[in-house]
Amino acid sequence: MNSSIRPARPADLDAVCAIAQDAPLAGHWSRAQYESEIGSGLGLFAVLEEDETLGFFILRRVEAEAQLVDIAVRSRDRGRGLGRDLLAAAVAGARSWSSSKMTLEVSAANEPALRLYRAAGFRIVGRRPKFYNDRSDAILMDLLLA
Ligand SMILES: CC(C)(COP(=O)(O)OP(=O)(O)OC[C@H]1O[C@@H](n2cnc3c(N)ncnc32)[C@H](O)[C@@H]1OP(=O)(O)O)[C@@H](O)C(=O)NCCC(=O)NCCS
Repeated sequence: MNSSIRPARPADLDAVCAIAQDAPLAGHWSRAQYESEIGSGLGLFAVLEEDETLGFFILRRVEAEAQLVDIAVRSRDRGRGLGRDLLAAAVAGARSWSSSKMTLEVSAANEPALRLYRAAGFRIVGRRPKFYNDRSDAILMDLLLA
């Protein structure tokens, strides 16, 4: 099925909140926080759509860096390449800003996400022990773009 990735709109918020709720190891924002991200000018909030909204990412521009704040795919649509497509679109967004690097934080317990990032060329640059509520470490990763 054809999928497209485009900027998020208010009509995507129900789907975005449902996808985030079904992703225990991802970020957890309130609906109001997602809503305020739309058109905030802080970066890029994009969704992947087929006939429905199936995934999203939030990328923030912070000086010369692009921070991947969150990325998630609806649980029953995982494992068919949509996360890779979303990450590629986020990297393209960071490149379009001429960011020197893209950074992210991920739980050491989140093996699918770690593998997705490693496969895209991200390297581990740090670790925050017992950072998350489940006491898993936060792994800091980056991808050099310059
Ligand atoms: C991480 C996530 C976005 C990946 O999305 P996805 O659509 O399932 O990923 P893809 O199908 O594009 O797979 C891309 C790569 O990710 C890795 N991957 C995906 N699912 C995996 C799994 N269950 N176990 C191990 N690796 C996995 C693999 O390296 C895979 O490449 P491969 O198929 O060549 O082996 C998805 O699992 C998700 O939404 N998780 C919940 C939210 C989350 O934790 N986000 C990260 C916040 S830091």
